[in-house]
Amino acid sequence: MGSRKVILSFDLTEFDSGEHLSKADAELLAAARKATQYSYAPYSKFNVGAAALLSDGRIVTGTNQENASFPAGICAERVLMAAVISQYHPHHILAMAISYKPEQAASDHPISPCGVCRQVLSEYETRFGSFKMILSGLEGKVIVLDKATNLLPLAFGAKELL
Ligand code: THU
Repeated sequence: MGSRKVILSFDLTEFDSGEHLSKADAELLAAARKATQYSYAPYSKFNVGAAALLSDGRIVTGTNQENASFPAGICAERVLMAAVISQYHPHHILAMAISYKPEQAASDHPISPCGVCRQVLSEYETRFGSFKMILSGLEGKVIVLDKATNLLPLAFGAKELL
């Protein structure tokens, strides 16, 4: 044949609302929702909050921080990963929740990480182990993924540079 079709797939779980989550996941999502208040997003007016459950049981949060020089802005997920690695080593992320609060629109469905964050999440998981992701707005449906790397099939990684 010389060629083959390859199907890449992964499972996720959808919940109708945060009320159906385990206590630990609900607590982490609540922390991500609350963290949106510390976002600095005067340009997009799209406030994102991320919260991580660490291996010592602590919950740490991050938010998007924009800048008048637009490309200098950084997403909540990358702020959070950098903070965890820098401040909480050797503890690592067991689960991450992401929520958002737009100034003008509803926050009633899950958003998932941008492409750049997927790349950084993928390398984080390679370095420190994979973790669950909980995605939701301030209300409504919640999506739970087993690992962030599922969001970036065929990822480019450090192994190519060795
Ligand atoms: N943003 C995040 O912080 N995380 C995401 O998952 C999606 C996008 C930020 C980047 C920018 O500050 C604003 O949301 C609008 O794109």
